[in-house]
Amino acid sequence: MLKEGKIMTIGIDKIAFATGQYVLKMDDLADARKEDPEKFSKGLMLDALSITPPTEDIITLGASAAEKILNDEDKEKIDMVILATESSIDQSKAGAVYLHSLLGIQPFARSIEMKEACYSATAALNYAKLHVEKHPESRVLVVASDIAKYGIKSSGESTQGSGAVAMLITSNPSILILTDDNLAQTRDVMDFWRPNYSTTPFVNGMYSTKQYLDSLKTTWREYQKQTGFKISDFAAFCFHIPFPKLAFKGLKKLISETVSASHKEQLLKHFQDSIIYSRQIGNIYTGSLYLGLLSMLENSQTLRAGDTIGFFSYGSGAVCEIFSARLAEGFQKQIQTSHIKELDNRIQLTVFDYEKLFFEEIELDAKGNAYLDFYRTGPFYLSGIKNHQRIYKRVKDK
Ligand code: CAA
Repeated sequence: MLKEGKIMTIGIDKIAFATGQYVLKMDDLADARKEDPEKFSKGLMLDALSITPPTEDIITLGASAAEKILNDEDKEKIDMVILATESSIDQSKAGAVYLHSLLGIQPFARSIEMKEACYSATAALNYAKLHVEKHPESRVLVVASDIAKYGIKSSGESTQGSGAVAMLITSNPSILILTDDNLAQTRDVMDFWRPNYSTTPFVNGMYSTKQYLDSLKTTWREYQKQTGFKISDFAAFCFHIPFPKLAFKGLKKLISETVSASHKEQLLKHFQDSIIYSRQIGNIYTGSLYLGLLSMLENSQTLRAGDTIGFFSYGSGAVCEIFSARLAEGFQKQIQTSHIKELDNRIQLTVFDYEKLFFEEIELDAKGNAYLDFYRTGPFYLSGIKNHQRIYKRVKDK
């Protein structure tokens, strides 16, 4: 409840991520594809990719991430669940309905799915914020969940990945206070898209990187004009991370302006903290900007309450947005310790096994049933398909 006279803030109260339980090391991929390993480790700044088996999808990943942060009170108070995704499992039913059910959220909630390539989690945050502004007691669960799959030997193969980020949006948040300075840009370009009939995207790879950087440059210019902000006003900048090297190029574009040497060093250090998880996981599309935020929060020793963080969200097609947010008082208490050890526990795959596991299509019989083999997943898994209906279970129900 708000005390009289206190200004209400809105933002991220809790945040967590989940990723696939299998991993492909970039050195192994380089070896199989006859590439110099440094092309991946230095050229893309990637060390490994998270791989999912057929029993893990955007629902199980999203539910695993959300379960890490929700307590019984949250489940009673959440009245909206938004799933942001590019790799939807159904053309009609919102994946958020499955999440709502698996997580045991009270029935009088709105559950929807949002789409615009890697951008939609930012739209979801905006919608969640508007909702909480009107209903300060509400809690909104935003889940960004994707499996980035380009295809064997495709140009994007080295930038695949899988994972979900879950965020609880509330009034008076414990971690991050959203401000009102968002500036978006839309441009109709074909840099990356996936028609309904295709399981993998069509990509104009180099063109997409140009669109990303030009969207950043032009939106940043207009954002500065509208807000008066300079890069020196930000303690850190988080980027959509299709692969860390592109985000790094983005940061370099912003700090080419006059910044002091010490501030430049601070921005670079925080950037390095923001790519620790992405280096090990790869692209998780909609969640990747927020995975960067979480990586920075969990691994940085120098961020302080009140620090302003800038965000660049980008979704191919394309829509992008720049906005700022402030770290809340005591945010460190709400942040868990680094997840690097958890990532080390993934099962390492050979390239042969990765090709089999990641691209295995679920085969349905004439009645729309499929029986799936056992694989390691998070706490939830897709147990099978019955009459074209996906059946999700908790691992302990097996
Ligand atoms: N040692 C060190 N570096 C090396 C190297 C070596 N031996 N060999 C190559 N490199 C460097 C290259 O110089 C290059 O770095 P610079 O860009 O700084 O010059 C880097 O490694 C990548 O090499 P290539 O340019 O040859 O490119 P590639 O064949 O790996 O393809 C890509 C890059 C086109 C981006 C491809 O990975 C791709 O298609 N990815 C999918 C699309 C994508 O991620 N687009 C990003 C923008 S769109 C977006 O953001 C939405 C989204 O999430 C998809």
